[in-house]
Amino acid sequence: MTTIVPPASEFDRYTGIADALAGPGWCVTPFFVSSGEVLSIRAEAAVLRAQGAFKPAGIGRGEDLLVRSEIRSDRVYWLDPAAREGAIGAYMARLEDLRQTLNRDLMLGLFSFEGHLASYPPGSFYRRHLDQFRGVELRTLTAILYLNPDWQPADGGTLRVYTDPDRPDHYETVAPIGGTLVTFLSARFEHEVMPAIRERLSLTGWFKRRG
Ligand code: OGA
Ligand code: MN
Repeated sequence: MTTIVPPASEFDRYTGIADALAGPGWCVTPFFVSSGEVLSIRAEAAVLRAQGAFKPAGIGRGEDLLVRSEIRSDRVYWLDPAAREGAIGAYMARLEDLRQTLNRDLMLGLFSFEGHLASYPPGSFYRRHLDQFRGVELRTLTAILYLNPDWQPADGGTLRVYTDPDRPDHYETVAPIGGTLVTFLSARFEHEVMPAIRERLSLTGWFKRRG
């Protein structure tokens, strides 16, 4: 597995992610946010949930948006990309710094961000897929932040990342441990969310090229 040990400064960390994306095209960054930040984001998510803001997730977008529970069975809340308040806003501000580093180092032309909180109730999943919509290839980089304190291997809910084009059924496994960030080039890696025995929360988003 491609794992980055978090270096001392944010700057080094963003550069490390850029290096990994230029190489294997994906990476896992444990402790991208602290356990305190994970709890703060969870608290904000709990308020949104109590307000009924989470809705069954769809596949596709706009008129194509379909809720197909045989493909994915999570519930999502789409974030305001301009939000800078609170713990979610602070995380989005860091993603903005990451975006600028990646554009500078890799010239990826990342222009905007869209993302959602995703809650997977026990037993739910997201089947193997690619994060690009049919015919629209604006999603360039996927960034998944896990928000699950004290996640145990027996809880399940791993992310499988299919990393080898020569071995279509080969995958690497990432546990959805609170604070871990997974980044990968959206066009390149199919991936899949396995069922868990407890609720599994993430903040998943995509940096997009200009349309
Ligand atoms: C997605 C997705 C993975 C995860 O929302 O497109 O693949 O681990 N999420 O939550
Ligand atoms: Mn996905």
